[in-house]
This record gives sequence, C-alpha cells and structure tokens, in this order.
Amino acid sequence: MPALLDIRKLSIEFPAAGLQSAGQPGAAVPTRTLPAVRDLSFSIAAGEVLGLVGESGSGKSITSLAVMRLLPPQARISGEIFFGENGSARNLAALPADSMRQLRGSRIAMIFQEPMTALNPVMRVGDQISEAVLAHGTGSKSDAAKLAVQAMTDVAIPEPDRRARDYPHQLSGGMRQRIMIAMAIVNRPQLLIADEPTTALDVTIQAQILDLLAQLRGKFGLTMLFISHDLAVVSQVADRVAVMYAGNLVELGARQEIFRAPAHPYTRGLLRAVPNLRTERGHPLGTIEGTVPPLHAMPPGCAFEPRCGFRIPECTRTVPPLIEVAHGHWARCPVVNVPVVTAAR
Ligand SMILES: Nc1ncnc2c1ncn2[C@@H]1O[C@H](COP(=O)(O)OP(=O)(O)OP(=O)(O)O)[C@@H](O)[C@H]1O
Ligand code: SF4
Ligand SMILES: [Mg+2]
Repeated sequence: MPALLDIRKLSIEFPAAGLQSAGQPGAAVPTRTLPAVRDLSFSIAAGEVLGLVGESGSGKSITSLAVMRLLPPQARISGEIFFGENGSARNLAALPADSMRQLRGSRIAMIFQEPMTALNPVMRVGDQISEAVLAHGTGSKSDAAKLAVQAMTDVAIPEPDRRARDYPHQLSGGMRQRIMIAMAIVNRPQLLIADEPTTALDVTIQAQILDLLAQLRGKFGLTMLFISHDLAVVSQVADRVAVMYAGNLVELGARQEIFRAPAHPYTRGLLRAVPNLRTERGHPLGTIEGTVPPLHAMPPGCAFEPRCGFRIPECTRTVPPLIEVAHGHWARCPVVNVPVVTAAR
C-alpha cells in the first residue's frame, strides 16, 4: 500500500530557557536547544490506522503538531513530512503557509484531547462545524449548516437539528467529543489525527467513541494517526503500533506482532502494565521503575538505559539504531533484539 503520510528523520527542538552552550570567549553564545523529538521516521499507508504510544512527554503531540504545522514559533524542526499519494506527495515541512492552510482542516484534520478547551464556549456547536466548512468551501451559509447537521448525524448525535443550536456547555463530555469529530470529518479529510481522543472520557463513553471512530474509518476510508499513552486503547483501533520513548521511536510493527512478540525492553514493560484476561486477580500489575529523563539531561546513549534491566556498558555510549527484528517489525535495541513471544491476548 502506498504511504499517505511519510515522516522522514523528523527532529524537533526547543530553545532551553536560561541554558546556553559554551562558546569561544567574546563570540555570540548560541542558546542551547532541548531535543524533544529525535530522528523520527514512520509512514502510514492510505486507509491504515497507526497507533502512536508513549509516556507523557515522549513527543507524541508535538509530532502531530509538526504534521499540522501548528508547532509554536520557537520550535526548530528538521526532516521531511510527505503527505499525498501516487507521486503527488508534498513535503508539509516546506509548504508555503497558504498552501498549508488549505490542507489543514480539509485534507488533514485533527481531534484534540479536551473538547471543552478546543470548542468555542460562546458559539453554537452547529455554527462551529459550519465555520469549518466555510473556511474551506465556496458554498453558502445554509449549505454549510446542512453539512454541519449531516456531520452531526454521521457521528450519531440524536436530534442533530436541535442539538446544532446548543452551546458546548449544554452537551455531555461524550457529545462534545462527537462534535469535535464532526468538525474534523465534515470536509472529508484523508488523514485524521486523533490526539488522546478518549483520555478525558469515562470508560463506557471511551468505548463508544472508539466504536464511532472505527465506523467512520470504514465509511469514509479514513487514514488515522491515533495517539494515546494507553496501549490497551491503541490495541482496539490500530493496525500498526509505533512506540515512542523520550523523543525516540523505539519500536514499530504490526499490532499483533507488538502485542505477541514485543522486542524492546520499554514496550515489554508497557505491556506488563496492561491487564488482560490472563492477569491473575490480586496480583499487582508490572511497573517500569524510574521516570523518563528530562529533556535537558538526556543520557548520551540509549535514553531508556537508566531504567533498563537488560543494559550493558555499551548502552551508555551511542544512541542505538533501529533494527529489523522480523519482517516489518523494528526495535531500537541491539542487545535484546529477539522478540519475546507472549501469550495470546
Ligand atoms: N512549547 C514548548 N516549549 C518547550 N518545550 C515543549 C513545548 N511543547 C512541548 N515541549 C516539550 O516537548 C516534549 C514532548 O511534549 P509532547 O507534548 O509532545 O508530549 P506527549 O508525548 O504528547 O505527552 P502527553 O502524553 O503528556 O500529552 C515534552 O518534554 C515537553 O515538555
Ligand atoms: S540498548 Fe541497552 S539500555 Fe537500551 S533498551 Fe537495549 S538493552 Fe536496554
Ligand atoms: Mg500529548
């Protein structure tokens, strides 16, 4: 399958407030930068759902913001982000701002974690969806309003004509998230980025939203980048899974492979922390000792080394490369590169 999104060697750095690099005496002293995403490459085929997982601060959101070209201006980015199919792919990282504005919200759309902060509290939800249409189309206001109601029907909001006149505070958390999804799909995007779309919701509503995303994917042939810190949630929606740790991609492979035979010690640790049907009641779930290193104190070698039970002295020297441990299954660990086969989930 051809890639719709192809991220190549993406790095994102932020200037470190108050931290400066040492320079020659008298020379202008450059501000030190903090590496938030390092040398990240992955692609998503048309129609595929890629789950991007990792602990808080691992770089998931800023990767998606780089695709949307919504990073704050102080962020420094290098690498390429190709979007498009069959020879028409364009590098979003180098696209003029006008062209990017045309793609954003039409061919590429995003759902954010917290709908209450993403929605305008003093505007009716139907008008907010219509506005997304008018920003990209040439149709009339009444056509946009009809499309908004249709999008609300697509996301299974009951009585969409009436609810279109509600303000966000009149809707439940689950309904607000449906409005966010309606706003994202109303222009029929090819790529939908969902950044923790269910994290703020309780478990039953979360399951309904995941079901809805699966239905919309089938109905509109959506390609999706689905971001979550929760492997259990990702396992319900993703075809392939990418695991990030401290700004690095540490493992990438088909969902079944990652769950059946995780190769990287960090992924193994994450999986031990996910309950499944075989988990014995009363048995504590596994945890990964320690915390993610802060950006200003990244270890020089493998970023996971301080927490890794498999580490050897070489792990502290260089950043390990990604190794293909099985067909299409990559892990950034030259020490433990034989996948461990786990019980079926
Ligand atoms: N505007 C900014 N200025 C400086 N550093 C930033 C900025 N935005 C993000 N970062 C840093 O970049 C790193 C990655 O942040 P990001 O928001 O992508 O993490 P995340 O994986 O989405 O985490 P979470 O699960 O908490 O949402 C973090 O260390 C964060 O502090
Ligand atoms: S490279 Fe070394 S420290 Fe890093 S995950 Fe592998 S064994 Fe652990
Ligand atoms: Mg985030």
